[in-house]
Amino acid sequence: MIPVITIDGPTASGKGTVAARVAEALGFYYLDSGALYRLTAYASLKAELDLADEDAIEAVAKALAPEFKGGRIVLDGEDVTDKIRMEAVGVAASKVAALPRVRSQLVQLQKRSRQAPGLVADGRDMGSVIFPDAPLKVFLTASAEARAQRRFNQLKEKGITANITTLTQDLQERDRRDMERAVCPLAPAAGAKILDSSNLTVEETVAQVLTWYKECLAA
Ligand code: DC
Repeated sequence: MIPVITIDGPTASGKGTVAARVAEALGFYYLDSGALYRLTAYASLKAELDLADEDAIEAVAKALAPEFKGGRIVLDGEDVTDKIRMEAVGVAASKVAALPRVRSQLVQLQKRSRQAPGLVADGRDMGSVIFPDAPLKVFLTASAEARAQRRFNQLKEKGITANITTLTQDLQERDRRDMERAVCPLAPAAGAKILDSSNLTVEETVAQVLTWYKECLAA
């Protein structure tokens, strides 16, 4: 069985950075499942679709054929790596992610990324739905304030000005939508280890996940 480490958690909890570094440390593949929802949202916005039109968005998800090369994401010949990180796309992603048939269309794409020697998958339902047999499941969280501060710093690095109060409100609104939706609401998977990174550095967080993984291999 190819090992999988799942890292789920709310927006801006640092999942992406932590998952990518854990994958690098172990020589595993890395799946950023949120990117698939962002890509679906991006393509839907570009086609000017109504984000509540499940038939239309399902068709977009079904046809989705992103190419991941050298850290870049190409969709239908367009480099969308940075575009899908925009807040507006994130908000749209959380709307399309609430549509059950859109989620089912993306299941195979996610399962296919389980390849030897192993996979680190980050998202919301990696441990609960996509890889329920993962030997290590982590639920990475942090306070809304800590997450808003991190998002603020990221945006600042990119030269984008943002307002911390608005960012905190946006995060809380997206948490609510992700936690309250009927399908696959954001919640720790059964058996997940909860890791609160509010007061931890990225290195400390990565080290904790690697320690848990070693323990799990020894068990
Ligand atoms: O992790 P992220 O911010 O890139 O995810 C974008 C949106 O996609 C987020 O609002 C919730 C949704 N998502 C999901 O429902 N299930 C996943 N496995 C990953 C992301």
